[in-house]
Amino acid sequence: IRKHALEAIAATREAAELESLRVKYLGKKGELTAVLKQMGTLSAELRPVMGQMANEVRANVEKAMESQASILSQKAMEAQLKLETVDVTIPGRKIEIGHKHPMYSVLDEIKEIFINMGFEIMDGPEVEEADYNFTKLNTPDDHPAREWSDTFYLDPDSKTLLRTQTSPMQIRAMETYGVPIRMISPGRVYRKDEVDATHSPMFHQIEGLVVDRGITMADLKGTLNAVIREIYGPETKTRFRPHHFPFTEPSCEVDIQCHKCGGKGCPTCKGEGWIEVLGAGMVHPKVLSGCGVDPDEYSGFAFGMGLERLAMGQFKISDLRLIFENDMRFLSQF
Ligand code: PHE
Repeated sequence: IRKHALEAIAATREAAELESLRVKYLGKKGELTAVLKQMGTLSAELRPVMGQMANEVRANVEKAMESQASILSQKAMEAQLKLETVDVTIPGRKIEIGHKHPMYSVLDEIKEIFINMGFEIMDGPEVEEADYNFTKLNTPDDHPAREWSDTFYLDPDSKTLLRTQTSPMQIRAMETYGVPIRMISPGRVYRKDEVDATHSPMFHQIEGLVVDRGITMADLKGTLNAVIREIYGPETKTRFRPHHFPFTEPSCEVDIQCHKCGGKGCPTCKGEGWIEVLGAGMVHPKVLSGCGVDPDEYSGFAFGMGLERLAMGQFKISDLRLIFENDMRFLSQF
């Protein structure tokens, strides 16, 4: 029994195996216990001899189990430690952090340019009154821009709408702060346009307004040329083309000469040689007087530019939709 027990104990690899050996040899129905139970059948001389032997075997087996138990727990501990080892030399996992959206980095650049020229930045409502979006901007009642097919109205009486331009901020600026004033106001605008590579029902504009005594078309040209050359580079050629807006008179659209072909015409400028970048004009006297500003004393200029188009030009983005889709494969390029 002793020989078998000691061999079996030495061969155990887990505490559970050791426990089942304890039951097998020392338990109530164990092999050694069975021997002790038969002691009564032995003669008086043999009994003490057998008893001593049995006790010795029991002591041996118990001792072997004890030392095996401590070996096993030591081994288990070592295995656990090995499992939990931390390799402090492995380089850390890089945490990806976000960054500015390309369109907003263009916006911040433009804000900076205007702040340096003494302009203030204003924020205004996207849900606007038709009065501010159209009427106070000298837009006639039958103007096509007022059509339900072009504008998102929010009530059946066409009184509130999603602003179609940032120009209502010209009115709000003058009503709130009076004149003289120098401000820009960037923000979202909405039009019922079908989505394609160059159109979206929501896009961004930056409005600008300067009103003071003695402001002329020369100030408009000088200011916008300076801004455009900050954005597109000092050699950029511009063209002021006559246009019409209800709220400016005279009005113009401003083009920059295509930097790719130098004005000869290429795919970038759709063969035109020029790329339109903003609408502008001298604030209409009716708009000024509507805001309580005397057009005989004050004059001003206003302009509006599309932010998406600017960002597309700056970053050579071919499709407007990429700006709004928030696809990481696109965004992570900037
Ligand atoms: N609001 C005009 C547009 O959306 C742009 C503009 C702004 C023109 C200010 C003149 C003055 O097209």
